[in-house]
Amino acid sequence: MAIPRPIRALVDLVTIAAISLNFFIYFYPDILNAPDQCNWAHAAPHFAKYPILNKIPQQYLQPLLLNIPELRQEPEPSPHEIHMLLFGDPQINGNWPSTPYIKRLDNYGNDHYLGHIYSVMSRRLRPSHVAVMGDLFSSQWILDSEFYNRTLRYVERLFPRSAEQKANVVETHARHESYDWHRWLEQEMQLDPMERFTSRVYEDVYDWVDRDRKTANLDNPVFINLTGNHDIGYSGDATWQHMARFHHLFGQNNYVVNYARGTAHEWRLVVLDSLTLEGPALQSEFLNFTWSFLDHLEKFENPKFQGATVLLTHIPMYKRAGLCRDGPEHLYYVDNQREPYKNGLLRSHNHLSDNTTQRVMNAVFPNSDQPGVILTGHDHEGCDDWYNFEQGRWVASKNRKEEKDDDDDGSSRQSVREVVVRSMMGDFDGQTGILTGLFEHGRWQFDFTYCSFTVQHWWWASKVVLAIAIFLQSVVRLSSIWA
Ligand SMILES: *[C@@H]1O[C@H](CO)[C@@H](O)[C@H](O)[C@H]1NC(C)=O
Ligand SMILES: *[C@@H]1O[C@H](CO)[C@@H](O)[C@H](O)[C@H]1NC(C)=O
Ligand SMILES: *[C@@H]1O[C@H](CO)[C@@H](O)[C@H](O)[C@H]1NC(C)=O
Ligand SMILES: *[C@@H]1O[C@H](CO)[C@@H](O)[C@H](O)[C@H]1NC(C)=O
Repeated sequence: MAIPRPIRALVDLVTIAAISLNFFIYFYPDILNAPDQCNWAHAAPHFAKYPILNKIPQQYLQPLLLNIPELRQEPEPSPHEIHMLLFGDPQINGNWPSTPYIKRLDNYGNDHYLGHIYSVMSRRLRPSHVAVMGDLFSSQWILDSEFYNRTLRYVERLFPRSAEQKANVVETHARHESYDWHRWLEQEMQLDPMERFTSRVYEDVYDWVDRDRKTANLDNPVFINLTGNHDIGYSGDATWQHMARFHHLFGQNNYVVNYARGTAHEWRLVVLDSLTLEGPALQSEFLNFTWSFLDHLEKFENPKFQGATVLLTHIPMYKRAGLCRDGPEHLYYVDNQREPYKNGLLRSHNHLSDNTTQRVMNAVFPNSDQPGVILTGHDHEGCDDWYNFEQGRWVASKNRKEEKDDDDDGSSRQSVREVVVRSMMGDFDGQTGILTGLFEHGRWQFDFTYCSFTVQHWWWASKVVLAIAIFLQSVVRLSSIWA
């Protein structure tokens, strides 16, 4: 049976649509973004692995090499560069027995949509560090079983990790036992504050599994998971169970990693659990642990640290209303009938309070001659501000204060930029935050850009149209064989 011409034309059309859509979703960084947005700041041009390719004009060669890493020579990682990708609040949902099939399919597709963004961006840029800005999951009210299930999706679909890196998650999921948080509680409570602190201070981590590694691992970047209010809860909700299972699968809530200590280009990463800074809390021990971490940082680390700091935390610093979508707001439980023991406790907050912000920033950014940068999540819209040091306090503004040279009384500080990283969810166009640190002329400088994808429907369309095209092409082929 011969296929009529119009049908053939239709099949060809569907095939072209499938190819175009797939081209679009793999090359989106260059199609949807300005030329420098989806690259490290001040990036040197790439060189092709095959000399013949170097004949292609640079304006075409560079996007080609960025999109197809197999064609390029990978530069050696430099200790004078920080290459970090940041992903705002993925907030993945779960399936319940009552979840309709269409919603299950939506959740499945959403995992792969987020995973597509990570895979395109990590292949393209080969970061040394990747941070997910908290709210990994959509709800803090889930049981251990669901927590394990979502964590497995996190390491397999969203942010695929090597077998070694995800072994703990896979094994915990396979055993599927309720997590023994009592044991962790006892361990934590027995730790002397100094011991707890020193166990949260790391040196030159380039791989959480292979701690002896001395250079960035661009195939398996250092992965950082922040606590979000949907992962452990606000301090009025957070229990030992929440905290214990988070620590088990995602790492510590507070820590510092020092790089190149004692050299001119030293810098550090501070990961801070901003959910346990303010109360009243359900478990006041958590506030004590987090403040004790900051106090120890100030007392024991700051005196021997001359470098720049990158602060990663979920809740943004205090700022007056109007600078970001969310203004300052703290809510407390009142008249909670279902859980009356929570009344009076902290129920939610958009920012840290002003006083907490001052204490955090003073402890984290001690060096008046060094820049710093803060990356947070929480407000899905995202936001970008400067914290200028004015009359002894950090004050948020859209503008960076002019640096004055005459301010030599030690009271001046470099302004610190805070980027509230816009969410990677489809509703916010699948953002990837790109942070570049560059040590040049004796100091660090930080740059931040976004690389945007688009709503998840385009990703869906590319897969559905591809499936239809493959089906139609097979029908056409088979019928021509039989004809
Ligand atoms: C988690 O996944 C397992 C199967 O891997 C399933 O048996 C279990 O019911 C899931 N947990 C929840 C809370 O849905
Ligand atoms: C973050 O979570 C992933 C998945 O569990 C894990 O591989 C990684 O080591 C975690 N990061 C830290 C700092 O523990
Ligand atoms: C934490 O608790 C310990 C012991 O109860 C106390 O000595 C310490 O001052 C507290 N630290 C902070 C920062 O509140
Ligand atoms: C904030 O700190 C200042 C100075 O330390 C103090 O006077 C003020 O009462 C504090 N405000 C709040 C709300 O705690």
